[in-house]
Amino acid sequence: MISHTSQQSLTRFSLNNERRRLLQAAFSAGMLSFMGLPAALAAGARPAIGFNPIAASLNDLVRVPDGYSVALLYAWGDPVSDGAVFKADASNSVVEQAGQAGMHHDGMHFFPLIENGQASSTHGLMCINHEYTDDGLLHPDGMADWSHAKTLKSQNAHGVSVIEVERKAVGKALRWQLVRPSKFARRITARTPIRITGPAAGAPAMRTKDDRRGNVVFGTLANCAMGVTPWGTYLSCEENFNGYFNGLETPTTDQKRYGLREKGAGYRWHEHDSRFDVMTEPNEANRFGWVVEIDPHNPMKAPVKRTALGRFKHESATVTLAKSGQIVVYMGDDEPFEYLYKYVSRDRFDAALPATASSLLDYGTLYVARFGDAGRGEWLALEFGQNGLTEANGFSDQADVLIRTRQAADRVGATKMDRPEGIAVHPQSGEVFCALTNNSQRGKGDAPLPDAANPRQENTFGHIIRWQEETGGQADNSGKSFNWSIFLLCGDPQHADANKRGNIKGDAFGSPDGLWFDAEGRLWIQTDASSKAMKGSDYAPLGNNQMLVADVVSGEVRRFLTGPKGCEITGVTSTPDARSLFVNIQHPGETANERSDPARPMLVSSWPANQFPEVTGGRPRSATLVISRLDGGVVGA
Ligand code: FEO
Ligand code: CA
Ligand code: CA
Ligand code: CA
Repeated sequence: MISHTSQQSLTRFSLNNERRRLLQAAFSAGMLSFMGLPAALAAGARPAIGFNPIAASLNDLVRVPDGYSVALLYAWGDPVSDGAVFKADASNSVVEQAGQAGMHHDGMHFFPLIENGQASSTHGLMCINHEYTDDGLLHPDGMADWSHAKTLKSQNAHGVSVIEVERKAVGKALRWQLVRPSKFARRITARTPIRITGPAAGAPAMRTKDDRRGNVVFGTLANCAMGVTPWGTYLSCEENFNGYFNGLETPTTDQKRYGLREKGAGYRWHEHDSRFDVMTEPNEANRFGWVVEIDPHNPMKAPVKRTALGRFKHESATVTLAKSGQIVVYMGDDEPFEYLYKYVSRDRFDAALPATASSLLDYGTLYVARFGDAGRGEWLALEFGQNGLTEANGFSDQADVLIRTRQAADRVGATKMDRPEGIAVHPQSGEVFCALTNNSQRGKGDAPLPDAANPRQENTFGHIIRWQEETGGQADNSGKSFNWSIFLLCGDPQHADANKRGNIKGDAFGSPDGLWFDAEGRLWIQTDASSKAMKGSDYAPLGNNQMLVADVVSGEVRRFLTGPKGCEITGVTSTPDARSLFVNIQHPGETANERSDPARPMLVSSWPANQFPEVTGGRPRSATLVISRLDGGVVGA
C-alpha cells in the first residue's frame, strides 16, 4: 500500500531515467531481433522443447514434468504489502480485502527492477489481473443476506494487484516471496479513480451524475488478459463488464449489442451502488470495456483508460513495435462471432522521450480484421467518415465509433470469429498467433456458417490461427494486409466425432485461451475448456485445464502442466533469464455457471491447501505459482 511511501522515495524510484532507458532497451532488444533477423532463425531453426510431456490429469493438483518444481507465491487474500493476512473462513473485512490479492487471477507480467545496470531476474514488480469473483466463496456465508458491505468487498476483490517480488534465501533454499512492506505495492479495484483519455473522453455518452466531464471513472473490472508497453507500463483488459450491470427489462439495440440485460450476471452490485443500475445511470456502462494502462513503477500515478483502443469485451492487448517505430496493439473481443482488432499509433515510439510515450495510445487508428479466402486478409479502419462510418449510417463522430466499436465493426464487414482470446507475437519473426477458443454456435440455427478462417461447425475445441503482416511485400506489423493460415485445429485425436478430432501432433487439448511466446520463441498455450470437462463428460480424456508448449515450425505440442479440478490456467510470464516461470491458476473448484456454496466447496477442490503445506485449510483459492527447473535451467528448454 502506498501509505508507507515517502514522497522522496517515490520520486527516486519513479523518475529513474536510467531504469527507464534499460527497460526500453530490454523491450526493444526482443523487437529488434526480427528487424535484423538472425540467419539461423530465419532459416527455420527453433528453440528446443526439452521436457518429457506429462499425462492429462483429473487430479486436484498442479503437475509439471520431471525435473521441475512448483511453489506458491500469491493466492487470493494474501496481503500485497504489510496488511492483514488471509482468514481461511473468508471473514476478512471490506478494508482488509482492499489491501489483499483479489480473486480469480488472470493476465500478468513481471517487470524486472534494474540492479547494477541489469534487468534483475531475482527482483521485480508484478501486475496481476483479478478478473472476477465467486461471491459464494468471498464471504463467510456466500450470497446470503446480500448487503452494502458485501458489494464493497466484492468490488475490492476485483481489479489489479501490483506487488514487489524477490527471490532470496530461506534456510538453504532460494524462494520467491513478496517484499513486505513495499513502496510499489498497491491494489487497483472496482472503486479506484481512473482517468479516461483519447477520442471518447468527455463525450456526452461518457458523462454521468458523478462525473459531469466524462473523464474520470471509479474502477476497473473484468480484467482478463493483458499487454506490456515498451515504456514499461501494463495494459489490463476489461472483458465481461456487462455482467456487473442491471440492464433494462427491454434493452436498447446498442445495449443488447454489448449484452447489457436485466440482472446481468447476478452480482447484485446495483442494489447498493446505483451506478451499476442502467435505469439510474445509463452511461456508466459506456465507461467500461476499455484497455487500462497502469504504471507499476509509480504507485502515485492513476491508471488510465485509453479509449482509442476501442470498447468491447477486451481479452488481450498484445503490443509490438512495428519496423516503422509505430506501436501496434493486437486485441480480441471474446464472444462468439466477435472480431479481432489492432491499433496502430500515429507517431513513432522514441525511447529517448519515454515521458511522451503514453500519448501513443491516444492518437492512432483502430482496425478490425477481415479474413479472406485463399489465405489473404486485410485490416479495415474504424475511422469516422471512412468505410461507411458516417452520419448517414448512424455514427456521429469518432467517440461514437469507439464507444460502439462492435457496431462499427459490423458496419465495415469484419470477419466474425470463434471467440478471439490470447494473442502472441513471435519475438523473432513478428508473426502473430491468436487462440480462437471455441464456438459451439457456429452453423447452428440462424448463426453464421463455417468460413475459411473459422472452418468448423460447432467448434467445441477451438483452433489457433496465425498471420504475417506486410507492406509492399515486406514483413511489417503496421501493414494493412496479411497472409494467414490455421496453425492448429484443437481436439482429441481419439474422439468418436471426426469434427472434434482436430489435427494436433502430440498432446491433445481443447479451448486454447492464453497464448505467450517466451523470448526464444516457444509458444505456450493455456486452456479454458468448460467445467463440463472436469465433470466426467465426453471431454474427460483431455483432463483438467492445462498448459502446453508448441513448436510453431513443426506444429509439435507437448503438455507441460495440468491444473487442479475446476480451474482454468491463465496468466504466464517469466524473469528475463527465463529460469523462473510464473503461472496463474484461476477459479479452482468452479462448477459450470454457478456460485459456490460455502458449505460445500471442498467437494469440488481443496487446492491449494491440499498441495502446499503452508496453506492451512480453507476454500479453493486462485493463485500465482512459480515454476523452475531443479537444475536451474531455462524453463521449457
Ligand atoms: Fe477472460 Fe475470455 O477469458
Ligand atoms: Ca481468457
Ligand atoms: Ca476463455
Ligand atoms: Ca476465462
